[in-house]
Amino acid sequence: MAGSLVILTGAGISAESGLGTFRDTDGLWAEFDWQELATPEAFAARPARVHAFYNARRANLTAARPNAAHTALAQLERAWLARGGDFLLVTQNVDDLHEQAGSERLVHMHGELKKMRCLGCHTVTDAVGELDTGTCCPRCQQPGFLRPHVVWFGEIPLEMDLIFQALETCTHFAAIGTSGTVYPAAGFSEVAKRAGAHLTEINLAQTETSPLFDSHVSGPASTAVPAWVEAFLAQG
Ligand code: OAD
Repeated sequence: MAGSLVILTGAGISAESGLGTFRDTDGLWAEFDWQELATPEAFAARPARVHAFYNARRANLTAARPNAAHTALAQLERAWLARGGDFLLVTQNVDDLHEQAGSERLVHMHGELKKMRCLGCHTVTDAVGELDTGTCCPRCQQPGFLRPHVVWFGEIPLEMDLIFQALETCTHFAAIGTSGTVYPAAGFSEVAKRAGAHLTEINLAQTETSPLFDSHVSGPASTAVPAWVEAFLAQG
C-alpha cells in the first residue's frame, strides 16, 4: 500500500501565478508593515485600513490562475489516493489556486481571502466584492462585525489537530515554496522527521529549515514540482 503523504505549500508556489510572496525582496512585507495590517490589534485600531489592504489582495486574485505546480499537486493527490495512500495538502496560502487546480484534500491553515467571518455570530461566508466597516453579515445582519477570514500574527492557525495527526503518521513530507520562518508551519518538518518520514524541500533558494530535509529540488515551482511529482509517482 502507498504511504501517507503530507504536502505543505507557501507563497512561492503561487509566485508564478502573479501573486507576490511575503519575504522575498519584492515581497508584500517589504512594501507593507505587517504589524499595521496583519494583527488583531491592527484591525481593532484601524479596521478600514486593514479592510482596504485585504480588499486589494482579493482583487488581485480575480485574474490569478493556477500554474503547473498547482496542477501537478492535484494530479498527485488523485494518483496517490488511487493507489490507496493517504494524502493531505496543507497550504499557508490564502489564495484559491489549489482549489482551482482541482485539489480536494486541502486545508487552508491561514484562512481564505475569498471568505469573511462575523465576529458577532462567527459565521464564515463568501466575501464578495469589497468589505468595509459598514458591511452587514449576511446571516445576523449586523454591520461592523465582519473581518477577513485570514489568520493574523498572534492567532492560532486553523485545523491544527487534523494537520498534526497527519504529520505524526506520515511517510513522506514535502515543503514547497515556503521560507520556513513562520511557526507553527515552520515546525512541521521536525514533526514529520520524528515520524520517520522522508522529507523533500522544493524551493528557489535555501531556507531556515533546509538542513532538516533529506532531498532538495531547486528551481521555480512551475517546473520543479511537476518534475518531482513525476519522479515520486514513478518510484512510489
Ligand atoms: P515567504 O514569502 O516567507 O517565502 C516564500 C518562499 O518561496 C521563499 O523561500 C522563496 O525562496 C520561495 N519562492 C519564491 N518564488 C518561488 C518560485 N517561483 N518557486 C519556488 N519557490 C519560490 O512565504 P511563506 O513561507 O508562505 O502568514 O510565508 C509564510 C507566512 O508568512 C504566510 O502564510 C503569511 C506570511 O506572513 C500570514 O500572513 C499569517
